[in-house]
Amino acid sequence: MFHYRRLSRGEVERFETPYNENLLEVHLTDWPVDGSDDDDSKWLPSHCVMPSRYCQFAERIRNLTVYEDDVWIVTFPKAGTTWTQEMVWLIDRDLDYETAATVNLQQRSKFLEMFTFVSKMNLPDSIALVEEMPRPRHIKSHLPVALLPQQLWSVKPKIVYVARNPKDVTTSYMHHYKHIHGFEGAQQDFLDGILQDKIIWCPQVKHAADFWHMAKNRKHILFLHFEDMKRNLMGVLAKVCTFMGKSYSTEQLERLAEHLSFENMKNNKTANNQILVTQAAEAMGRSSDQFKFMRKGEIGAYRSELPVDFSMKMDELIREQLSGSDFKYRE
Ligand code: A3P
Repeated sequence: MFHYRRLSRGEVERFETPYNENLLEVHLTDWPVDGSDDDDSKWLPSHCVMPSRYCQFAERIRNLTVYEDDVWIVTFPKAGTTWTQEMVWLIDRDLDYETAATVNLQQRSKFLEMFTFVSKMNLPDSIALVEEMPRPRHIKSHLPVALLPQQLWSVKPKIVYVARNPKDVTTSYMHHYKHIHGFEGAQQDFLDGILQDKIIWCPQVKHAADFWHMAKNRKHILFLHFEDMKRNLMGVLAKVCTFMGKSYSTEQLERLAEHLSFENMKNNKTANNQILVTQAAEAMGRSSDQFKFMRKGEIGAYRSELPVDFSMKMDELIREQLSGSDFKYRE
């Protein structure tokens, strides 16, 4: 069952956008679920901040039928989701570059909760679209452990989770929130929202720590880091191939690494998510030239983009929220 904690206007109005209104906290009250191990009886996954619209769909998502041949990509927003979707889809589909070049990644790897957090845009029912996908399905979600379908833990499909340093995530999310979610507030408001865990999908650090906890005893979860993909993509490709039960030659993997390079992803019309930027810009009556979804793709961009005091406060928040966990972000 879910419990919804309404947040007062004063608590959240600075952090809302015209499309993400009436933020509240969604708490799961009945963990452990079927498929959890004994250890989990002492543990409760974190709540998640969502617009109130999400309440209408929370149970539907929780009760979604999961299949063992599903492939799930789960991340906190801006952790390298799109990059990972393209990588995992190609590895799973025998490096089918032809289909990848003609069918948009959003169709190949569908975003489960897309329409549940956006009001006013009349998006299609993304849960139904996932239900209607031919198997084996590739599914993307930003939902944390508590809000994901329960059958993920009993049916045990492959799940790839990606974490990224929260300061770089915050930098990337700040631009995304403005250009895709229509956030009109000041940069400091957004940063305060991140530090107070009041932006949608927060708490950010718990999102990763909960998945780290889940991945420990579950072989169907692969936990990756954005920074490892950036520094040693070939090493990550080898890991993902083993996880997916696939084997490719060094030449094939080198070609894949080239396909997945930042420059190529940026120019790849079927995988650069620019379609989302265009949709959002049209809805807001803005030009879509102002933002590139594939923005910088760097490690440490926060150093030049965010104030030093934010960075120090974020370090403190990370320390606090990871106390008692052996999870560590890459620097
Ligand atoms: P920046 O905004 O820091 O550039 P998501 O897909 O989760 O929304 O994440 C988007 C972030 O991943 C963006 O970060 C984007 O540039 C980065 N990204 C996507 N493809 C990448 C690649 N091939 N190499 C490095 N970063 C990549």
